[in-house]
Amino acid sequence: MIAESLEKLFNEQILIENTASTEYLKLAIWCASNGFDNAAKFFFKQSEEERGHMLKLVHYLIEREGKVVIELPKNREQKIEGIFDVLQAFYHNELNVTKSVNALVSAATASGDYNALQFLQWYVQEQHEEETQARSLIEKAKLIGNEGPYKYLIDQMLADAEGK
Ligand SMILES: [Fe+2]
Ligand SMILES: [Fe+2]
Repeated sequence: MIAESLEKLFNEQILIENTASTEYLKLAIWCASNGFDNAAKFFFKQSEEERGHMLKLVHYLIEREGKVVIELPKNREQKIEGIFDVLQAFYHNELNVTKSVNALVSAATASGDYNALQFLQWYVQEQHEEETQARSLIEKAKLIGNEGPYKYLIDQMLADAEGK
């Protein structure tokens, strides 16, 4: 059975993943409404992935006889005025998720819950991949710049980023 203190943090992580799913859904909708079809596809997929991350935590908590609390996602205001804002929002969100995953890992270590610690390694690796991908998209977008057919090129870049 999972410790109460860890159960609380697991539920917070469930909320964070759920919020990420909703935020990426919003990014996908902005992209789809502004002609960025590939970017939209990319973020619809990201949104689904975040829901998967949430469900993985939900199942784990049930298996460890924890109580799952599902809260509505926090409605953080994201000011999206262009495709660069979309990429920045993606990157900053991933940095925040990494912070909460690290806090969870520290708490699992402190409470000597090696089962939870092992389970959480997947999230540590996932955050490494997500941060690397988001940062690399921003760097590539900077290389493309914001002149000429840059919107088209950034959308193409996101078509290539799919499936990774
Ligand atoms: Fe996630
Ligand atoms: Fe993510």
